[in-house]
Amino acid sequence: MKYHIKNIKLAGVGKQRIEWAERSMPVLRLIRQRFQTEKPLRGIRLAACLHITTETANLLITLKAGGAQVYACASNPLSTQDDVAASLVKDYQIATYSIKGENRDTYYQHLRQALDSHPQITMDDGADLVSQLHSQRQEQASEILGSTEETTTGVIRLRAMEKDQVLRFPVIAVNDAKTKHFFDNRYGTGQSTMDGIIRATNLLIAGTVVVVLGYGWCGRGVAAKAKGLGARVIICEVDPLKALEAVMDGYDVQPMAQAVQSGDIFITLTGDIHVIRKEHFLKMKNGAIVANSGHFNVELDLENLKSITKKTKQAREFVKEHLLNNGKKVFVLGEGRLINLTAAEGHPASVMDMSFANQALAAEFVVKNHSQLEKKVYSVPDETDQEIARLKLKALNIQIDQLTSEQRKYLSSWEMGT
Ligand code: ADE
Repeated sequence: MKYHIKNIKLAGVGKQRIEWAERSMPVLRLIRQRFQTEKPLRGIRLAACLHITTETANLLITLKAGGAQVYACASNPLSTQDDVAASLVKDYQIATYSIKGENRDTYYQHLRQALDSHPQITMDDGADLVSQLHSQRQEQASEILGSTEETTTGVIRLRAMEKDQVLRFPVIAVNDAKTKHFFDNRYGTGQSTMDGIIRATNLLIAGTVVVVLGYGWCGRGVAAKAKGLGARVIICEVDPLKALEAVMDGYDVQPMAQAVQSGDIFITLTGDIHVIRKEHFLKMKNGAIVANSGHFNVELDLENLKSITKKTKQAREFVKEHLLNNGKKVFVLGEGRLINLTAAEGHPASVMDMSFANQALAAEFVVKNHSQLEKKVYSVPDETDQEIARLKLKALNIQIDQLTSEQRKYLSSWEMGT
């Protein structure tokens, strides 16, 4: 088996941590047990470009249990947990190409190595494999039965490809499942982003002013957790509906030009480019901290920050100090890459349980239905979403009510009034 990882000797620690995460992934466990007997992915070559974490390891093990030949590479150069990559190779015989801190060339080499397996299904977190299959490996696109996409940023790109009629195979938008984005994007990103910032800086959040840029599901989650830790939270938004929602959720809403003057910590989660620019860096308070938790590292205009920086130095492992020409210091965390996976461990397993249950079931859906699927972006079927929620509640030992037959009839009738 081919692989490219940092150090196979890290496998022991990786295995321990994979097993620890598994304890909090009961829905995925049930799917794995069924996959083991039914083998719905028998003989399928599957390439997964995901963050190589303990949670992803449990997904890959599940896909293998379902009969797939699995090839894994990282979806971000800084998010790999090297001990997990080692254990995937040594303990689970899963071909893995990923090293924390890999440079851009190695990152793309790893994507190519995963694609050299000639996958029939691809899984993406940010659409990088799909993008390669439409640019560098077009001859392989016809081999793809279907693909799945984990994140908002990826789904936005894929829908644009569908609209322009360039998409060459069907894609399941796992991100759009309610059991994914209601929970992973909100509670997962909320907790893991604050975890990343705290691990990187060891700062007390209480009493600080945290500026959250973007009030989508991820921004809502981060704002709530920052507030819970005692920060005063300011939201910056461009969408009037989301801005209004933030106001009614009790936050201060301001344009960045204003918020930039009072923020102690800035966190971008917009999915867009250059949200924090040169003019903002120049106006920040001395000592301001800047982090990104959006998928790509484009949200901070780091190129232009360089042009106004006199000197840089590494203040702590994931903290780079920029001494600006105006004499103030700004600290950028984790090179502007998603801070929750760079300085912490990403979302906790309990929430990835539902995201990755969706991924496993989406792969099974592709195998069963590919001949009927068109070159479009599909949602996860509603029944799958409902089933995952039911299983998660069961695992949490929480019972809910059932409609009475009278209530069911009332909901489907239009004749009954007051
Ligand atoms: N994305 C965010 N958190 C993650 C995790 N723990 N594993 C994989 N992908 C993630």
